[in-house]
Amino acid sequence: MNTRLDGKTALVTGASSGLGRHFAALLAARGVHVVLAARRRAALEEACGEIAGAGGAASAVALDVADPASVAAAFAQIGAAPDIVVNNAGIADDRPAMEMDEATWDRVVDTNLKGAFLVAQAAANALRAAGKGGSIVNVASITGLRPAGNLAAYAASKAGLIHLTKTLALEWARHGIRVNALCPGYIETDLNRDFFAGEAGRTLIKRIPQRRLGRPEELDGALLLLASDAGSYITGASLAVDGGHLVSSL
Ligand code: NAI
Repeated sequence: MNTRLDGKTALVTGASSGLGRHFAALLAARGVHVVLAARRRAALEEACGEIAGAGGAASAVALDVADPASVAAAFAQIGAAPDIVVNNAGIADDRPAMEMDEATWDRVVDTNLKGAFLVAQAAANALRAAGKGGSIVNVASITGLRPAGNLAAYAASKAGLIHLTKTLALEWARHGIRVNALCPGYIETDLNRDFFAGEAGRTLIKRIPQRRLGRPEELDGALLLLASDAGSYITGASLAVDGGHLVSSL
């Protein structure tokens, strides 16, 4: 089994915070030159500094995944085709479906689904032009596999991303490009820590068979499997990492 990644290059979108920042640091610690991409350049520079301080190689590129011109400009700046793409940028909105306005729907779906497509397409074209294969990991969610309340746009975008993953895997296998979806359950990050400390959050945690939230580092094994040659025969798959949440009792 080959989980080695040194000498590879990776693009991680949404790398200015949360899971994206964690994935960037993880790959850099494995010897990957990581390009961190997001809209907030200052936060990216700070994350790059942290990685460099730990002995890793990282650079930053400004990127709005929902904007085709921004995606094209970012790939022009990156130059070489990245061996690994982690399509992690994503936003959520938790208003009830009856109160969802069109602009919110568009923002969520444009970021989570169209954005992932635009980045995957640009990466695949760059890889094909360079005559090499690669691995694309789309960060979806268990809400793309089973519904949860008040997440209509988010859950639909993640379900779409899971199906997009399968169609791209089918189309691009002949180019040596693998495409897989990582479907996290509820992972504790700075953004949701307060919610899960409250009453509603604690009730939700009781429905997870393992009775706890995941930690970002508990996604590492799945990400490295999908990104490295250890997963060389895995494409079109959706891998849930959720403490058993998808198999919770009805
Ligand atoms: P986060 O809000 O900390 O990170 C999201 C990142 O995406 C941020 O860096 C943000 O700047 C970036 N981003 C948003 N819109 C963008 C755009 N248009 N262009 C470029 N970058 C953009 O949230 P978190 O929790 O780290 O989420 C990361 C991914 O993991 C998301 O796709 C999310 O849906 C997914 N996920 C998270 C779970 C969790 O429990 N934290 C569970 C399941 C999935």
